[in-house]
Amino acid sequence: MKPRPLIAGNWKMNGQLSALTELKNIAAAAGSGLADRRDLLICPPATILSASRGVLGDHVAVGGQDCHQAESGAHTGDISAAMLKDVGARYVIVGHSERRADHGESDALVRAKAEAAMKAGLVAMICVGETEAAREAGETLEVLGVQLAGSLPDGLSGETAVVAYEPVWAIGTGRTPTVADVKQVHDFIRETLSDRFGDAVASAVRILYGGSVKPANAAELLAVDNVDGALVGGASLKASDFIAICEAVA
Ligand code: G3P
Repeated sequence: MKPRPLIAGNWKMNGQLSALTELKNIAAAAGSGLADRRDLLICPPATILSASRGVLGDHVAVGGQDCHQAESGAHTGDISAAMLKDVGARYVIVGHSERRADHGESDALVRAKAEAAMKAGLVAMICVGETEAAREAGETLEVLGVQLAGSLPDGLSGETAVVAYEPVWAIGTGRTPTVADVKQVHDFIRETLSDRFGDAVASAVRILYGGSVKPANAAELLAVDNVDGALVGGASLKASDFIAICEAVA
């Protein structure tokens, strides 16, 4: 059985309190049926996470964009998974390619963060994706295999983890892989999950596609086998675009 789709918005370093009006519109649509057939999630910046939780109501979850691997302590500027949970987060993104690139996050660190998230009772959304150079060298699956082996914690399940495939070259560029390429990668991720965690867990873990998902291409991408939802960046900042993407899930 296919898992329930999840459409997630990653606001990255965008959005101040004035942006809560967009969330109000998303919450209104969610309460009017948008959330009936799919799970909805917005990951705003940490500064407005608590306010977002208040605005989004019961039908849209909120999540963090990163967490520290430690439970607490002397880590100036960092946020723990428990802190995110404390203000109402249900998910946290870990291992986004921007964190891997900007902050040098390794697979081992991403795994430690995912473990910390799961321990705190959050769903870890673990991101993987190849660079353009890796794709051009024909190394996409090899790179993803290494990232998955190193970033996924033991003992994960469909309730505690989501995998997001985000080709680095497709993020914010308006370019997307072909439907055939998305299918090949998502099939590969499902098989990789199955080899390590067994068929039951593998079929329950949602595998999202991310990278230039827009209202115009969402239906095509979301219809691909083994695509269980989307992780949306730029288009999630505008309620009407995010809602249109949610509506594209069959
Ligand atoms: O995490 C979502 C993201 O990296 C994709 O961004 O703007 O290409 O939808 P965007």
